[in-house]
Amino acid sequence: MQFTFQAPGNIVFGRDTARRLPELVAARGRAPLVVTGADKGRHQARLEALRQAGLDVTVQAVAGEPSVAMAVEGARLARAAGCDVVVGLGGGAALDTAKAVAALATNTGDVFDYLEVVGAGHPLAVPPLPLLAVPTTAGTGAEATANAVLSVPERRVKVSLRSPLMLPAVALVDPLLSASMPPAVTAATGLDALTQLLEAFVSNQANPMTDALCREGLLRAARALPAAYADGADLAAREDMALASLLGGLALANAKLGAVHGFAAPLGGLLSAPHGRICASLLPFVTAANIRALRERDPGSPSLAAYAAAAALCTGQAQASPEDGAAWLDSLCRELAAPSLATLGLTAADIPLVVANAARASSMRGNPVVLTPGELTDILTGALG
Ligand SMILES: NC(=O)c1ccc[n+]([C@@H]2O[C@H](COP(=O)([O-])OP(=O)(O)OC[C@H]3O[C@@H](n4cnc5c(N)ncnc54)[C@H](O)[C@@H]3O)[C@@H](O)[C@H]2O)c1
Repeated sequence: MQFTFQAPGNIVFGRDTARRLPELVAARGRAPLVVTGADKGRHQARLEALRQAGLDVTVQAVAGEPSVAMAVEGARLARAAGCDVVVGLGGGAALDTAKAVAALATNTGDVFDYLEVVGAGHPLAVPPLPLLAVPTTAGTGAEATANAVLSVPERRVKVSLRSPLMLPAVALVDPLLSASMPPAVTAATGLDALTQLLEAFVSNQANPMTDALCREGLLRAARALPAAYADGADLAAREDMALASLLGGLALANAKLGAVHGFAAPLGGLLSAPHGRICASLLPFVTAANIRALRERDPGSPSLAAYAAAAALCTGQAQASPEDGAAWLDSLCRELAAPSLATLGLTAADIPLVVANAARASSMRGNPVVLTPGELTDILTGALG
């Protein structure tokens, strides 16, 4: 057995740990660029605390999914303001923008030199600015990963800027920051976390360390996601989801993902829909297709055993089969009002292009079984609704 395991330099987790942000930033720089979501009001108290600590704060507020243009603009802002540290404070969109900004602030070549799939994919030439990642959703685990997913509108696709150097210096995860999420955002981001834990657990690149993280995360997410959706003030459920999301990020950064995220890359470039909602629409269909394909073509696969173990963790039934797990996921997605791809704007005419682009996506390489173009088409047709 051989594996490597990469993680942020420091993980700070727990209720009310966000109050430590000024101290953690000041240990790394004096002039932070803080990338927030569009609603700056939600972050006012933390921005004020940074200023009161004597830090020279510049703010970049970003709306919607992160794009190459946002990252280039943030890097320009960081250089112009003399920033020496970057903070991502918000959902995965703010975190990914911050990660890309930190990388491009010091790597001044054309962004396409570094992008995967649509660019040259060159390694970063110099280390990024130090990055502190402070999630306010419980879903992406982007605080623990080495990539930023950026949309490239002219190519209608989302691709990663990726480097081990992009791992945050600090992941500061305060579950209280996620308590203000409304049910729809709780559902979309939480189903993304659950997807990541499941895809990393059944991935063809899973290892004992990522398995341990995924087991713990699946157990917590399975019980906490319905509870946090039903009652956003349930802080124990918020805490479990924040931890599940972090564990998912740590796992995916080291074990890859699978077909849900393989589809999410081209779909994210095609539809103006939140990433979590796209993942939620696909999860039951990809899970059922993977289990069927494994039973037909690779019945001894460890991934099939992993699907059974995940089913046992999620349903609480020790003897649960992979199919029982798929049925549990399907019912959870209904309970959380997961959308169909049609409601997110996909049409049947888009399916051939999405299938072709998904087959090239980096996440597809972690899927436990190679799905045929026919199977990929059937998944999208089912998820279309
Ligand atoms: N780098 C990675 O490893 C990785 C992994 C998975 C997903 N992603 C990326 O993350 C992005 C999605 O992130 P997300 O799911 O967190 O969504 P998001 O960042 O788009 O946030 C969703 C919505 O919730 C709002 N919001 C955030 N925190 C809130 C809070 N506490 N209370 C109320 N509203 C809040 C945001 O303003 C936004 O409107 C996608 O761009 C996806 O590609 C990255």
